[in-house]
Amino acid sequence: MNVSEAVLSRRSVRSYKEKQIPEECLHRVIESARMAPSARNKQDWKFVVVQDEEKRDELHRASNGQKFVKEAPTVIVGVATKPEDKMKCGIPTGIVDVTIAMDHMALKATEEGLGTCWIGAFDQERVKEIINIPKGCRVIALMTMGYPEEGLEVMYKERKEPGDITCRDTYY
Ligand SMILES: Cc1cc2nc3c(=O)[nH]c(=O)nc-3n(C[C@H](O)[C@H](O)[C@H](O)COP(=O)(O)O)c2cc1C
Repeated sequence: MNVSEAVLSRRSVRSYKEKQIPEECLHRVIESARMAPSARNKQDWKFVVVQDEEKRDELHRASNGQKFVKEAPTVIVGVATKPEDKMKCGIPTGIVDVTIAMDHMALKATEEGLGTCWIGAFDQERVKEIINIPKGCRVIALMTMGYPEEGLEVMYKERKEPGDITCRDTYY
């Protein structure tokens, strides 16, 4: 699968098979995050791979009760370890870096035949408690991962038109 195919066939998967992700496959997914760019190559991130059933159940309750969060055999919690750091432009580095790395994971997972779904609807403090994340860190996003109940073939995506999201030389 090439990058374009991965981009087009990735979609949010909210229904998973019970089968766990093989370790070597998980390793390749994590490697894709490890190789992601980060501002000044600081890599101030941590990715907590949650597979324990009880913890996934707790994470699902901390994520607005979204059922598929406990049904997915793996949940990856993306953490910024220096959330106060900002780039010169004023944007928090951790949010950008962790998000890029997690998107690498989502695309690599697609290539591996895995489904993913970003989870932004979660209780920051509760998730930190559940997996013992130090106070000074910040959870950027959760991502469910596992084999999808239905295939990942390229399908229609409801998106704005190119002309609605781009402009040339000046903002309009
Ligand atoms: C930062 C972020 C947070 C999201 N949070 C949730 C969530 O909490 N629950 C959920 O079901 N989907 C969540 N989504 C998935 C979006 O709803 C989904 O990506 C969007 O509708 C486009 O659909 P697609 O991913 O199938 O292309 C999130 C996506 C992103 C990028």
